[in-house]
Amino acid sequence: MAAEDASFAFNAAGLDRALALLKARRGAAGAAHTLDVPERMPEAGLGESAALEALAVSVLDGAAPLGAPGTFAHMDPPTPWITWALALWNAALNQNLLHPETAPVAREVERRAVDWLAPFFGMRGGQMVAGSTLANLTALWAAREVSGVREVVASAAAHLSVRKAAALLGLRFREVPVDGRQRLQVEALGDVRRSALVLTAGTTASGAIDPLDVRAGAAWVHVDAAWAGPLRLSTRHAGLLDGIEQADSVAVSAHKWFFQPKESALVLFARWEEARAALSFGGGYLAVPNVGVAGSRGAAAVPLLATLLAWGRRGLAERVERCMALAEELAALVRAHPELELFAEPVCGVLAWRPRGGGDLRGLRARMRGAFVSLAQIDGSIWLRSVAANPLAQPQRVLEAVLAAR
Ligand SMILES: Cc1ncc(COP(=O)(O)O)c(C=O)c1O
Repeated sequence: MAAEDASFAFNAAGLDRALALLKARRGAAGAAHTLDVPERMPEAGLGESAALEALAVSVLDGAAPLGAPGTFAHMDPPTPWITWALALWNAALNQNLLHPETAPVAREVERRAVDWLAPFFGMRGGQMVAGSTLANLTALWAAREVSGVREVVASAAAHLSVRKAAALLGLRFREVPVDGRQRLQVEALGDVRRSALVLTAGTTASGAIDPLDVRAGAAWVHVDAAWAGPLRLSTRHAGLLDGIEQADSVAVSAHKWFFQPKESALVLFARWEEARAALSFGGGYLAVPNVGVAGSRGAAAVPLLATLLAWGRRGLAERVERCMALAEELAALVRAHPELELFAEPVCGVLAWRPRGGGDLRGLRARMRGAFVSLAQIDGSIWLRSVAANPLAQPQRVLEAVLAAR
């Protein structure tokens, strides 16, 4: 291949076309469910332009419309355009935070994003990871190394990643029952002196917040704030997470309520120097130690920092507050409807609801048109679940779609 290779050149026409396709097909999102490419890898390539056209329909139409008025389903938000631009820069620059010389500013960007956000949680430092599954694993790994914990204790409503992390780390997992609102029952904790106690701020199924000021003599307290963490930036709602500042570590997914493209999350520590030392591995080819679970990793902090710079604390808080208000609005509609029931009042934008008596909710969901909800199992019973990750959602529309599909 020639030293000049157009594939690596700046192709403004190709990028313009990609943008035009994105713009033209956004309305069709969710329409396609097939991947129209050959079963086997082609021997001769199509060229970039043809590859772009070949994938446009499948990829662009085949994605659920996360910012559509009827989307009130999972913890996946629409993303602001500034993140699309910065993700494009990221792909073009391909920085590797493992190597300071290839990514001097990207590493600084991550440090800045962590420095901006950690104080809201009472933490002193940390790093970005690809999701809260990895944030929980990283935090519990540090707990094992720093505090010598032997087991992980969490409520029955904790996310499966907590149990998974315990299994990976060779730690026993002990489940504590929840109360009627899905909060950890503190009186059932037992002896946690050699344990990492995991408290959840925003359980996956119903958005419950465990009592976050509990320490109970635990060797380490980790708060899984994957979902509800960003409420700390809202003066109106920050109090819901009071107590989080006493934790040893905190997980927050930026690709949930910080409106970031995947894969973006933070693991934060109260004693970061100590945790970092425990999570650091040096190696012959490394100029600085590899910290954490990942080796090579990209600059997810760049779109995050851009969003925080663009919106400021207030702009972020306004969007999260709007989502909270939408959950309240849907709850009010459900409450007012004689044939619908709520599992509980929404605490942090997650609502479990259904037609009275339940019925075939899977079938109902499959019949729904023009709106999305998810399903959750709570205490062995299935509920419709609406997560307020979409500030553009219209609760009335979601309600009507459910009623029409009964
Ligand atoms: C409470 C909680 N913790 C952890 C996770 C895992 O986060 P991620 O999907 O970012 O790995 C989730 C995901 O929904 C969650 O709800």
